Amino acid sequence: KDFDSLLSAILRNVFLAKISATDEDKIIEDGLAVAERAGLQAKQLAHQLSIFAQGGYQVHKMEQMEPLLKEAAQNIFKDPGIKCNIYIPEELWQCEIDAKQIRQVFENVLINAKEAMPNGGAVDLIAENTTIGTNIKSLKKGSYVRITIKDYGEGIPPEHLSRIFDPYFTTKKKGRGGLGLGLAISDSIIKYHSGLISVESSVGLGTTFSIYLPATLKNEA
Ligand SMILES: Nc1ncnc2c1ncn2[C@@H]1O[C@H](COP(=O)(O)OP(=O)(O)OP(=O)(O)O)[C@@H](O)[C@H]1O
Ligand SMILES: [Mg+2]
Repeated sequence: KDFDSLLSAILRNVFLAKISATDEDKIIEDGLAVAERAGLQAKQLAHQLSIFAQGGYQVHKMEQMEPLLKEAAQNIFKDPGIKCNIYIPEELWQCEIDAKQIRQVFENVLINAKEAMPNGGAVDLIAENTTIGTNIKSLKKGSYVRITIKDYGEGIPPEHLSRIFDPYFTTKKKGRGGLGLGLAISDSIIKYHSGLISVESSVGLGTTFSIYLPATLKNEA
């Protein structure tokens, strides 16, 4: 929080300097624009890290997934242009999770979906109960809630697929967001929850992320 207010103070003053620069101050103005973008990125990073750093003292509570998913979708798809179709069965299992962290994961994936469809389109957000046997190697046998987030955007070329969860891997233009940390942080959060995040994609057709979170059935709780 302190770090965030420091950055806000810097940004406020950069902004003031920028609007008081005269026409002859073109170089100063360009410099300030660079400082401003860096400041905004630092703010975004500080926010992600502050949520992630809570992993040290994670609060795992039994949560309903439905409100979390709906909040995340509402936060990301504020403006029209992208239609978010949400399918959640009534009897969806509950999960023991850190709600703030998991909402951040949903938001990171939804932001990517939005950024993959600059001209608008649709995103499908599907939640399901599923039982995993031995079919997914990196998951223990048991009950899971699977969240599927499907976009119809640009897709990911096969040579990038294995790198998208790497810290700082990004294909987005420098200076316009795109630190390449969204998925790296999301992957860590899901691993802390003993879950799994996986991806399938076809260039030109779209991308599907699947997030598995261990479920706690009512009679086990
Ligand atoms: N839904 C998607 N469609 C197409 N490409 C994607 C999608 N999601 C992720 N990617 C690719 O994976 C890369 C890494 O994603 P990640 O969210 O980690 O970083 P970023 O979005 O580039 O930056 P940040 O999330 O830090 O703002 C992206 O730059 C993009 O190339
Ligand atoms: Mg991202």
